[in-house]
Amino acid sequence: MPNSPFGHDTAHTVHTAIEEDHQEVFRRIDQLEQVLRTPSPEQESLISLHFQALVQHQVDHFSREEELMQTHSCPNYLRHRQEHRRVIRELQTALDHWQQYTDIDAIRTYLVDVFPNWLHRHIATMDKVALPYSKVL
Ligand SMILES: [Fe+2]
Ligand SMILES: [Fe+2]
Repeated sequence: MPNSPFGHDTAHTVHTAIEEDHQEVFRRIDQLEQVLRTPSPEQESLISLHFQALVQHQVDHFSREEELMQTHSCPNYLRHRQEHRRVIRELQTALDHWQQYTDIDAIRTYLVDVFPNWLHRHIATMDKVALPYSKVL
C-alpha cells in the first residue's frame, strides 16, 4: 500500500478496519489540500463540505477505536479517550473558525501542518500501544 505524501507508516498498527480508517483520514487531508490549492467559485463550500466530512470520519474512527480498546481492556484507555476528545474539540474549533471567518491561511496551517503532525504522533504512540490488543478481531 502506498504511503501518503505525509509519510504515514502503515506498519504502526495491526487492526485492518482501524488501519483503513488511518489511511482514509490521510486521503481526506490530501483531498482538502488539493481543494485549498485550487481557487474556484466553489472553493469555500467545498472546503466546508470536506472538512465537515473529515471531522465526522474522525468522530466515527475514535468511537470504533475506543470500542475495541474497551473490549480488550487496553491499558491507558481513559487517557487515550481523553486525547481523542481533545482533538475532536480542536477540529470542531478549527471548523467553526473557518465557517465564521473563511480564513484560508489558518485552515491551511491547521489541516496541512498541525492536524497531520498530531495524527502521525498519535498513531505512532498511543494507537501503537493500544491496537495490538485488538489484533484478534
Ligand atoms: Fe487513537
Ligand atoms: Fe487511531
